[in-house]
Amino acid sequence: MAQSKILLIGGTGYIGKFLVEASAKAGHPTFVLVRKSTLSDPVKGKLIEKFKNLGVTLLQGDLHDHGSLVSAIKQADVVISTVGPLQFEDQLKIIAAIKEAGNVKRFYPSEFGVDADRNNAVEPAKSAFVARAKIRRAIEAEGIPYTYVPSHFFAAYFLPNLVQPGATAPPRDKVIIPGDGNPKAIFNKEDDIATYTIRSVDDPRALNKVLYIRPPKNIYSFNELVALWEKKIGKTLEKVYVPEEKLLKDIQEAPVPLDTLLSLNHSAFVKGDHTSFKIEPSFGVEASQLYPDVKYTTVEEYLDQFV
Ligand SMILES: NC(=O)c1ccc[n+]([C@@H]2O[C@H](COP(=O)([O-])OP(=O)(O)OC[C@H]3O[C@@H](n4cnc5c(N)ncnc54)[C@H](OP(=O)(O)O)[C@@H]3O)[C@@H](O)[C@H]2O)c1
Repeated sequence: MAQSKILLIGGTGYIGKFLVEASAKAGHPTFVLVRKSTLSDPVKGKLIEKFKNLGVTLLQGDLHDHGSLVSAIKQADVVISTVGPLQFEDQLKIIAAIKEAGNVKRFYPSEFGVDADRNNAVEPAKSAFVARAKIRRAIEAEGIPYTYVPSHFFAAYFLPNLVQPGATAPPRDKVIIPGDGNPKAIFNKEDDIATYTIRSVDDPRALNKVLYIRPPKNIYSFNELVALWEKKIGKTLEKVYVPEEKLLKDIQEAPVPLDTLLSLNHSAFVKGDHTSFKIEPSFGVEASQLYPDVKYTTVEEYLDQFV
C-alpha cells in the first residue's frame, strides 16, 4: 500500500519539526505549509534547509489565507496541525478548508499534551484544553476522520530541571514537589512522540480514536522521579511538598507564563490527569502497545545526560 501523503501545518514549530522529520524519514511524501515571512527568516532558515534536504515539499501559505490552505490540503491525504495555543481556535479554518478540499483521510489537530476531554485542569491551562476540546467537537460535527494525540509531557520541557519551574538544571539539594507526589505523570522524548504519531497515520486501529502515548517505562509519580534522580546522583534531596491549596494560590499569583507551567503541574501531579483513567477501546488506543517494535527513550535513560 502506498504511504499517505502528509501535510504539516505548524511544521516549523517546536514539536512540528520532529513530526516533519519523522514523516519524511518514514518515507511519506511530506509537505509543510510555511508562511512567506518564515521562508525568508534567517533563524528558521536552517530548519527550512534541513526540510529541503529531507526531500520535504514546502508550500507557501497561512492559516488566514483560505485559498492557500485548500490548495495545500488538496495535495495531501493526511493533515497534521501542530500550531501553538494562540492558534488553536484558528484551526476552525483548517476544518473549513478540509471540508472544501474533500480529499482528507485523516486530520490530527494540534494536541500533544493532556487529553482535552479527560482532565481536571484549572486556569490558565484549562482554557487551552477547552479550546482543544472545541476543535475536537468541530471535527466530529463535520464528520472529518481524525486521530487525537495526547503525548503528555515533552521530555525536554520538563526533565532537564526535574520539573522545577525556572531552574536550568535538576536539583542537587532541595526539590519542590506539588501535592503529595503520588499521582503518576508521563514524559516522552519529542522524537518518540513524532515516531508514534507518524506510525499511526495509515493505521486503521487509530482511526477516530485518541492515541495515548503512555509507554510503561515513562510513567512516574513525582516521588518516583525524585527517587530515580537521587539514585543516579547518589544523594538524598530535601523534599518540600506543596499542598494543593497553596499551589492553587501560587498559580493565581504567578506571572505569565509561570502560571501556565504551575497549572500544568497541578493537572499532572495533583489531579493525575495523565493517568487517572483507563484507556477504553471505545475511545482510545495506546501507542507503545500498537507499535511494540518502537524503541523509545526511557526516562531513566534520558536523565543520564544530566548526572
Ligand atoms: N506536552 C508538552 O509538554 C507540550 C509542550 C509545548 C507545546 N505543546 C503542544 O504542542 C502543540 C504545538 O505547540 P508548539 O509549542 O510546538 O508550537 P510553536 O512552536 O509555537 O509552533 C507553532 C507553529 O504554528 C505556525 N503558525 C503560527 N501562526 C501561523 C499562521 N498564521 N499560519 C500558519 N502557520 C502558523 C508557526 O509558524 P512560524 O514558524 O511561521 O512561526 C509554527 O510552525 C500545541 O498543542 C502545544 O500546546 C505541548
